Amino acid sequence: MPNKQFTLEDQLMLQDIMQHRRDVRGNNFTQQAVADSVIDQLIQVAALAPSVGFSQPWEFVVIRDDKTKQQVADCFADENAKAQTLFSNEKQKQYAALKLEGIKEAPVNIAVFYKPSDEPVLGQNSMIEMGEYSVVCAVQNMWLMSRTLNIGLGWVSILNPDTVKNILNAPSEHKLVAYLCIGYVEQFLDKPELETLKWAERKPTQSLVHHNGFKA
Ligand SMILES: Cc1cc2nc3c(=O)[nH]c(=O)nc-3n(C[C@H](O)[C@H](O)[C@H](O)COP(=O)(O)O)c2cc1C
Repeated sequence: MPNKQFTLEDQLMLQDIMQHRRDVRGNNFTQQAVADSVIDQLIQVAALAPSVGFSQPWEFVVIRDDKTKQQVADCFADENAKAQTLFSNEKQKQYAALKLEGIKEAPVNIAVFYKPSDEPVLGQNSMIEMGEYSVVCAVQNMWLMSRTLNIGLGWVSILNPDTVKNILNAPSEHKLVAYLCIGYVEQFLDKPELETLKWAERKPTQSLVHHNGFKA
């Protein structure tokens, strides 16, 4: 439909989806199978995302194989052990108790890659990282769509990208942007788990906004 207009109901619905989107970790995934058609749908909406110069620089590796998941889970374990040492005392204890991935529990994992273009890309000259930012827009589309399908999605970033590239046999120029765990859930939490566990608090929006520049 040309010039499609949305209703107030649509607007409230989108806000509601955003409000209830959650990062889902291994403590919440169920073993209910996720159909290939659902994964196709998530990738279709990913490909609707905006991209610098309409470069569409994303590629997806869909992983259902337990052996591959185990290799990625091992990579997470190594990186997570190192990450823990960044924090001290109580914070380190709290960190150690967090569940920060659902690689093996989630029926499907998707690795999302940035594939740089061989040609100059319109708009990706002064700020070269715009290609990767475009891929992040695609991930957010997947996250919101999966929530409307009542399917959980968790982003795992505590991974060595080169190790994951090796595991997945990715071409050298490809860059890992996101590693996603996807599956049906026991429950969607009302609030970010890190907020409930008092790891961090949501910032008030007024503290984020500056008018006509930052104060000198
Ligand atoms: C770029 C990015 C990387 C993230 N990496 C991890 C991760 O490695 N492990 C994890 O448990 N959560 C990860 N998260 C999820 C955040 O912890 C989560 O989004 C945040 O705590 C807010 O919770 P919510 O998504 O449920 O609203 C990541 C989120 C983003 C956007």
